[in-house]
Amino acid sequence: MLDRYKIETTAVHAGRHVDPATGAVTPPIHLSTTFERGADGEYPRGYSYSREDNPNRRALEECLAALEGGKQALAFASGLAVATALVQRLEPGDHILAPDDVYYGLRKVIGEVFAKSGLEASYVDMTDLDAVRQAVRPSTRLVWVETPSNPLMTITDLAGIAGIARRANAISICDGTFATPILQRPFEQGIDMVTHSTTKYIGGHSDVVGGALITKFDNYLFERARKSQIFGGAVPSPFDCWLTLRGVDTLPYRMRAHSENAGRIAQFLEGHPAVQAVHYPGLACHAGHEIAARQMSGFGGMLSVQVPGGRAQAMQVAARVRLFTRATSLGGAHSLIEHRASVEPSKTKTPQNLLRLSIGLENAGDLIADLEQALNGNPR
Ligand SMILES: Cc1ncc(COP(=O)(O)O)c(C=O)c1O
Repeated sequence: MLDRYKIETTAVHAGRHVDPATGAVTPPIHLSTTFERGADGEYPRGYSYSREDNPNRRALEECLAALEGGKQALAFASGLAVATALVQRLEPGDHILAPDDVYYGLRKVIGEVFAKSGLEASYVDMTDLDAVRQAVRPSTRLVWVETPSNPLMTITDLAGIAGIARRANAISICDGTFATPILQRPFEQGIDMVTHSTTKYIGGHSDVVGGALITKFDNYLFERARKSQIFGGAVPSPFDCWLTLRGVDTLPYRMRAHSENAGRIAQFLEGHPAVQAVHYPGLACHAGHEIAARQMSGFGGMLSVQVPGGRAQAMQVAARVRLFTRATSLGGAHSLIEHRASVEPSKTKTPQNLLRLSIGLENAGDLIADLEQALNGNPR
C-alpha cells in the first residue's frame, strides 16, 4: 500500500498504525515477554514469545523493508550481529569476498569469532572490478560490499559488483550504513541484500545500538539469518526497536541536512593550507565522485581529512576542537571527530594522519569556525 508514496511518507507511516486499544498515535512499547493463547491453543494475535517476534520489532522490520524497497527485514541487536548471523550460517569451505578497506569489525567476525569454522575469506580492492572478477571462486557464496567505505570513503560501483556476484551464483550484500536508504538504493543497482548498523543514521541520535538485514527476494542466507535471530536470540529489545523507529521519522530530512553540512565543510577543508587531503565523495576531485553521483542522491555526512605530518599532528588537531566531540561512531546530531587508526587493528590501511569526521546537525558555519581554529592551532 505504501508503494505509491514517496520516501518521506514511508519513513513516517510504514509499520505504524494507531493503537487499536487506546487510540495512541505514537506506538506503545510492548514490554511483555509472552502473549496470550486463544482457547484453542493458537495465537490469534500473531505473537507468542518476545524473542520470536514482538510488536515493536515487527513495526521496525516492516518500516525498514519498505524504506529500502525490499521484501523483508530482520532487526538485530547490533550491526555486527547481522554479520555474525550471516557468517555463522555459511559452511566449511564457503568463501566470502569483502573489500580490503571493509569496516574492521567484519574482519574480526570472520577471522576471530569464526576462526575455526573452516570459512575462507579474501579481501580485495572493490573499486577495481577486474580484481573482484579474479577473486571470485566457485565456492564464493557471499560478496560483501561497503560503499561509501569506512573511513576512506571509497566508492564501489554497486551495479558492477551485483553483476559479478550474480554470474558467480553468489549473493551480494551492501553495507549501506553511511548512505542509508535515503541516499542510496542498492536494490535498484541489482544488489540482493542490504545491511545497516542502525546505531548510526537510522537511529540517528547516538542513543541506541542496532542492526538490520533487508532482502529483495527470498533466499537461503536470509532464512538462515532469521533462524540466528529467532533461535540464536540476537534480538533488539522492544525499547531499542521503538527508539530506532522514532529515529526513522526524521531520517530523510536529517540525511539532507547532514549532506548539506558535510558538503560545505568538505569544500572549506579542500582549500585549507593546513590540510593535505580531504576524502568526501561529493568533491569533484574524489576518485569515486562520478560513480557516487550516479548511484547516490546525496553524498552523506561522513568525511575524512589528512593533515600534514603524522599521528601526533592529527591528534593535536583533534585535541583543539571545541564543538566536535572526540568520540567513535557516527550518524547522530552531534558532530564527532576520531583518530581512526587508533581504534583499528595495527595492520590497518588507515593513514596515521587521518581524522574521521561525522558531521552533525549543528550550524555548518559554526562547525567550520571550530575546524578553522583547530587547524590553525589557536590556543584554547
Ligand atoms: C559501516 C559499518 N558497518 C557496521 C558497523 C557495526 O555496527 P554496530 O556497531 O552497530 O555493531 C559499523 C560500526 O561502526 C560501521 O561503521
